[in-house]
Amino acid sequence: MPEANKQGPRTVTLRYFDGTRREAEIINQEVPYPDGKLIVSRTDTKGIITHVNRAFVEMSGYSKEELIGANHAILRHPDMPTVAFEDLWKTIESGKKWHGYVKNLRKDGCYYWVKATVIPNIRNGKLVGYTSVRRKPSRSKISESETLYATLM
Ligand SMILES: Cc1cc2nc3c(=O)[nH]c(=O)nc-3n(C[C@H](O)[C@H](O)[C@H](O)COP(=O)(O)O)c2cc1C
Repeated sequence: MPEANKQGPRTVTLRYFDGTRREAEIINQEVPYPDGKLIVSRTDTKGIITHVNRAFVEMSGYSKEELIGANHAILRHPDMPTVAFEDLWKTIESGKKWHGYVKNLRKDGCYYWVKATVIPNIRNGKLVGYTSVRRKPSRSKISESETLYATLM
């Protein structure tokens, strides 16, 4: 069940790591992760999206054309603590896999939780980019992450 829309839409300025910013409408309503689907994307070494599957397009609310070439931070939700992404980048840049729970912002301002695994793609010993595969998170892990992330903000 989607959560009740307690706060109504609010406009938030999202500031990105690279210094850019954008205004986004945030709606406190969850779109539940669809059963049995994998949401997949690939990026280059900078986090620019190079590939998305159909489930990614459906859940994010963006078209494939809007996504390819965009920075993956296009999905960043203001409720996600910066340290989560610092940990992600530190891990994958050192060639390791990262696992984590992520609250993502849809184009329509609603959100969805994912259980993500991000894998470095190595070709002939050289890092060429990253792949992220998301699965449906359990309700208990979502609640745990909400509590933890609120303390990290
Ligand atoms: C393969 C891959 C997948 C990513 N998936 C997401 C995602 O689903 N949601 C998200 O907010 N950030 C994701 N990121 C992290 C973003 O690149 C970015 O670091 C993050 O959104 C925070 O934005 P900032 O670095 O501009 O502060 C992903 C990065 C990589 C390399």
